[in-house]
Amino acid sequence: MRVAVLGGGRSAEHEVSLVSAASVRDGLAAAGHAIVAIEITRDGRWFSDGGELALTPGSGLLDCDVVFPALHGPYGEDGTVQGLLECLDVPYVGSGVAASALCMDKVRFKGLMDAAGVPQVDSRSLTRRELEAGGAAAAIELVAPLHRPLFVKPARMGSSVGISKVEESGLELHHAIEAALAHDELAIIEAGAPGIEVECSVFAGPDGARASQPGEIVIEADFYDYEAKYEPGGMTLRLPPRISPSAAATVQRLALSAFELCGCADLARVDFFVDGETVLVNELNTMPGFTPTSVYARLWEADGIPYPALVDRLCRAALARFERAGAARAHG
Ligand SMILES: Nc1ncnc2c1ncn2[C@@H]1O[C@H](COP(=O)(O)OP(=O)(O)O)[C@@H](O)[C@H]1O
Ligand SMILES: [Mg+2]
Repeated sequence: MRVAVLGGGRSAEHEVSLVSAASVRDGLAAAGHAIVAIEITRDGRWFSDGGELALTPGSGLLDCDVVFPALHGPYGEDGTVQGLLECLDVPYVGSGVAASALCMDKVRFKGLMDAAGVPQVDSRSLTRRELEAGGAAAAIELVAPLHRPLFVKPARMGSSVGISKVEESGLELHHAIEAALAHDELAIIEAGAPGIEVECSVFAGPDGARASQPGEIVIEADFYDYEAKYEPGGMTLRLPPRISPSAAATVQRLALSAFELCGCADLARVDFFVDGETVLVNELNTMPGFTPTSVYARLWEADGIPYPALVDRLCRAALARFERAGAARAHG
């Protein structure tokens, strides 16, 4: 296959995406595919082979069979690039427009999980406009029922950018909300979850969706912040996780439920807080970090799928989906 791998992008996760994309290119090359590297600049322009691309709707992308958008965060993992790829009429790895947008938005994602009875931490949301209208006092009142510490986050970000852990209401809370609102118009304030962090990889091919064995995120830092995620040694993945077999089964079941409820495609990494038998969904990443040492790939490697085979299967899954959708359109 000839695969276009997209890297970079407009979000705060630009650098992380470049590393993911380089790994995906190496993995696909090792699996025998021809690679077209496309780099998206921080201001959103697309370059390949030193030249800037001009895209034509309906005409595909540089004659590629499939696109692997190894992009994280806004303008990459949130449905925008997916919409562009739909307009180009080219198959691409990962969730479509609606699922990508939904999973990028922690407030809407939680709303859907709540409606489906999926367990999660208690939370409140706050817009910039609401903060300006009600001031700090209204924010303090809003979050009063939530169990401390609080986690204050931009609704649509990733890599822990803009997230603060807050022990007390007051000035500290106000600063944390301002920090989150620097990245988005909408912030979410969550009750702190007890227990450990556990992540689970989902792969969905033509034969259906499968959840990997979960892995435990072990960190020295106070929480899994940007440094812990990307500094060497900042995080250790513990396999198997220190949770009971029944909690592990619950993690896998909820990972697949979240994946189906959101209408995801091909892949996702679903993250949890586990305390004894209590399993809470934290979030679903439609395009998680994608180096061979990233959690998504390592969980599959532990299940016997090496990195090149994993990226190869994802491209094949994307192509098969596109062909099925084309057949449905033709018969519709
Ligand atoms: N409600 C919470 N309780 C405990 N820890 C949390 C909570 N929310 C976030 N965290 C910590 O912050 C990290 C980043 O939060 P997360 O919601 O996963 O944001 P991101 O999308 O940036 O990864 C988590 O991995 C965890 O360590
Ligand atoms: Mg996370």
